[in-house]
Amino acid sequence: MLTMNDIILDTDPLLREKSLPVEFPLDFETKKMLTDMTLFLKRSQNAEIAEADGLRPGVGIAAPQLGILKRALAIYVEYGDDEEPFDTVMLNPRIISNSVQNIGLEAGEGCLSVDYEVQGFVPRYNKVTVEYFDIEGAKHVEKFKGFDAIVIQHEIDHLNGVLFYDHISKQNPLEIPENTIVL
Ligand code: NI
Repeated sequence: MLTMNDIILDTDPLLREKSLPVEFPLDFETKKMLTDMTLFLKRSQNAEIAEADGLRPGVGIAAPQLGILKRALAIYVEYGDDEEPFDTVMLNPRIISNSVQNIGLEAGEGCLSVDYEVQGFVPRYNKVTVEYFDIEGAKHVEKFKGFDAIVIQHEIDHLNGVLFYDHISKQNPLEIPENTIVL
């Protein structure tokens, strides 16, 4: 079971590396890693478990955050009882198109690998079309928008050695660019 000790911090140069594509069929280790990543996210969002195990809550995690330079990520977002959670694992994901309109979180972004607060607006595309492979190796092309799109972009960034604060304006961190939805 993954704990915070398994997650490397932004002081580790590995987080700045570009990860390599995974090959199919997936080996046992990669499958286990993905199961562990999703389980970590779910446990981290359970207040009691998170408190007991000292987990910071997360909605997404990418393999390089475990020091594994593979193009693999897991996302788990709860939307309450009336809506399906956004629960996905993506291998070799690639944004193939994006909206002109941007979106960003009013409160800024956080990251399991950044154990301090960084203030600033992180602009993301409001809509993205993503090509990715599932654990069976089947290819998908899917559209995402809003919060889901933000999380996907944050996690895909990790596969390219990019961290969320790289997107924050140095001159004016709280500036919200034109044509941007604030969530
Ligand atoms: Ni992150």
